[in-house]
Amino acid sequence: MCCPGVLRCALLILMSLCTLRQNGNGVGALYTSNDMSMQSLGDNRAGASSDNGSGTKGANGELSRSSRTICRSFPGLTRKQLQQCRRAPDVVASAISGIRISVDECGNQMRDQRWNCSNIRTKNGNPYTSVMMSRGFRETAFAYATISAGVLYQVTRACSMGQLRTCGCDTSFAGDGVDFEWGGCSHDIQFGTSFVETFLDIKERGRDMQSKMNLHNNGVGRIAVAEYAVKKCKCHGMSGSCEVKTCWMQTPHFSEVGDRLLVKFREAKQVVARNSIGGNLRLADDPTPASTDGQRRRRRKRQPVPPKDHLVFLEDSPDFCQADPGLGSLGTRDRYCNRTSDGPEGCDSMCCGRGYNIKLERKTEWCNCKFHWCCQVKCRQCSQSVWVNSCK
Ligand SMILES: *[C@@H]1O[C@H](CO)[C@@H](O)[C@H](O)[C@H]1NC(C)=O
Ligand SMILES: *[C@@H]1O[C@H](CO)[C@@H](O)[C@H](O)[C@H]1NC(C)=O
Ligand SMILES: *[C@@H]1O[C@H](CO)[C@@H](O)[C@H](O)[C@H]1NC(C)=O
Repeated sequence: MCCPGVLRCALLILMSLCTLRQNGNGVGALYTSNDMSMQSLGDNRAGASSDNGSGTKGANGELSRSSRTICRSFPGLTRKQLQQCRRAPDVVASAISGIRISVDECGNQMRDQRWNCSNIRTKNGNPYTSVMMSRGFRETAFAYATISAGVLYQVTRACSMGQLRTCGCDTSFAGDGVDFEWGGCSHDIQFGTSFVETFLDIKERGRDMQSKMNLHNNGVGRIAVAEYAVKKCKCHGMSGSCEVKTCWMQTPHFSEVGDRLLVKFREAKQVVARNSIGGNLRLADDPTPASTDGQRRRRRKRQPVPPKDHLVFLEDSPDFCQADPGLGSLGTRDRYCNRTSDGPEGCDSMCCGRGYNIKLERKTEWCNCKFHWCCQVKCRQCSQSVWVNSCK
């Protein structure tokens, strides 16, 4: 009897907490209902079918209104992408929202690194117009994969919430499982995947090494979402007893996708441009010195193609210590660092040996959050002074 209400509250609390966490620096605005990335926290359609409160319908109308202008308002689309946008503006609108959440996730994953994704947060909103995206660095690889993953994620979610004309749920999950029935809305990851394949891969001509690298890394991003879909279940019956259990497949949470891609960033492999046109990407020779005999043998041997789920890069990264617009480096001046850490966020590494300043800063945070029945979380703003270090 009370369950739907309780569930809904739980969801709202979760959403509020997430909002607070995302805007953890305290200055951010609270959740606004036409923000697509927040809507996507809403669960699948089955779970939300009795829920008129989330404003999905209103947002839908808004989406179709704004979609007419969306193709023109997002700069830097290629001719073919524009064609696709005119054909399916609603899908492209959620793709653009996917690009936005992936730039956020990129910054979140790289917050401790000298390069922290801030230069793909371009003024025009299209990260592909950043100089970083036309380089062949490990960081470039990470950015391509993250954006491709974000677009797949967001398009798939929008499909499952009934926001798009041309897609919906994956109906191939049907019938009975071992102790459950397939029900609700399984995410149509195939639709999302083929959309991303055309929409993003179409940018790359695929002949030069650079675009081969980009295509490969786009694929790594798709895999990081598609191959980690998870089964979610819901119990039905008197007061939560699990007489009937329905399950559906859904994409993993996007922060998990980001975590996975960060691991791949660390394990990225260098590839070489041996015969630049027509040749496949090949792994670069292993730089570790071997016995001269082995080395000679390795050199003669053809290097293997990189695995499909490994990020690849072409050039060694700069150290990102100094600002260099041509390299897409903003430098680390004024970056916060941790005096006592010897990780990448430590002042030694972050400031590249230039030293750091210590200053007292006032920080404002949300605090004393209280849950009000039902369903609001109210917080106060607290501020305190803290010592911070920033690079010279
Ligand atoms: C949800 O909205 C529809 C149409 O606006 C309405 O017919 C229906 O009664 C609403 N359901 C609930 C549970 O409020
Ligand atoms: C990322 O780096 C840039 C420049 O290096 C800096 O201005 C920005 O504040 C950093 N962002 C975060 C979240 O640390
Ligand atoms: C700084 O690094 C140390 C050691 O890694 C850690 O214990 C501490 O919590 C960090 N401080 C901040 C403010 O993150």
